[in-house]
Amino acid sequence: MKGSTTAELSQFADDVLRGLSSTPKELSSKYFYDDEGSRLFQEIMKLPEYYLTGCENEIFSTQTNEIHRAFANGDNAFDLIELGAGDGTKTAVLVDHFLKRNADISYSPIDISQEALDALTEKFEREFPALRMNAMNGDYFKILESLRSGDGRRKVLLFLGSNIGNFSADQSVAFFRSLREVMSDNDLLLVGFDLQKDPHVIANAYDDAAGVTAKFNLNLLTRINRELGGNFDLDKFTHYANYRPFEGSARSFLVSREKQTVRIDALGRDFEFDPWEAVFMEISQKYSLKMIADLAEKSGFTVKQNFFDGKNYYCDSLWSV
Ligand code: AVJ
Repeated sequence: MKGSTTAELSQFADDVLRGLSSTPKELSSKYFYDDEGSRLFQEIMKLPEYYLTGCENEIFSTQTNEIHRAFANGDNAFDLIELGAGDGTKTAVLVDHFLKRNADISYSPIDISQEALDALTEKFEREFPALRMNAMNGDYFKILESLRSGDGRRKVLLFLGSNIGNFSADQSVAFFRSLREVMSDNDLLLVGFDLQKDPHVIANAYDDAAGVTAKFNLNLLTRINRELGGNFDLDKFTHYANYRPFEGSARSFLVSREKQTVRIDALGRDFEFDPWEAVFMEISQKYSLKMIADLAEKSGFTVKQNFFDGKNYYCDSLWSV
């Protein structure tokens, strides 16, 4: 981000005020991704414990032909639109293959971090000089309307990396329905889902030995300090993550190590923390195939094809409207 706009800042302030005034306290993981947060997430993707990225990369590099066949569906012209593109590394594998197969494609990455988008654009322009690109900076909820196209070209929407995992069940359906709204009959949507698996594997992915995930969570307190004039002392909070196998949900928390008062100037308020009081930070939902099929159906989609990695840890699910 080039720094938040006034409207973004007041939304952030509202959400922090509401979250820290609630019982239990919560902060939204959608605010993790300032430039430092986006950088930390890229570090997370390289961690040995964080298997998700490797699984999706494996799917994209071993099943490129099948994915291309499904996307093209007899018509080798389509527009790729990626929501939450980040550094676009995974997508580069697909784009490279599609171009080699003479596909007539364009690529529109959307991301909330301008810095991440700049890096992606630079990399793609270097690697694929002939590719038509239209990068868009912003919240993907707000950019959806601009996706509605009247030019008759088919759209293939990409929502990768298990980004959907951060939404509650209701939010997921609402989000997919809003995508469905801007899609035409022959458009497709590819969604990356992290599957339910050995709970130890999942728990470790959100509690890495090097402590990068802890830093990633704590960075939101730094962001509040900087953007909202807070005085959080990061040493007084500890990161805690757990996984609940019944629900398939991994959650992370920041826990206050002691009784303390935190001042946030922009909110004109102090917030009290009890000893070991937890702030809910993030949910990372893990899915069964049944949950994926139900979600597609509730949102107005049909599952066309599922792509899995060799361990069945992860699923890229291709939906048609
Ligand atoms: C970017 C939402 C897919 O939930 O796995 C990684 C974010 N949080 N480690 C996830 C995250 C902690 C990530 N997503």
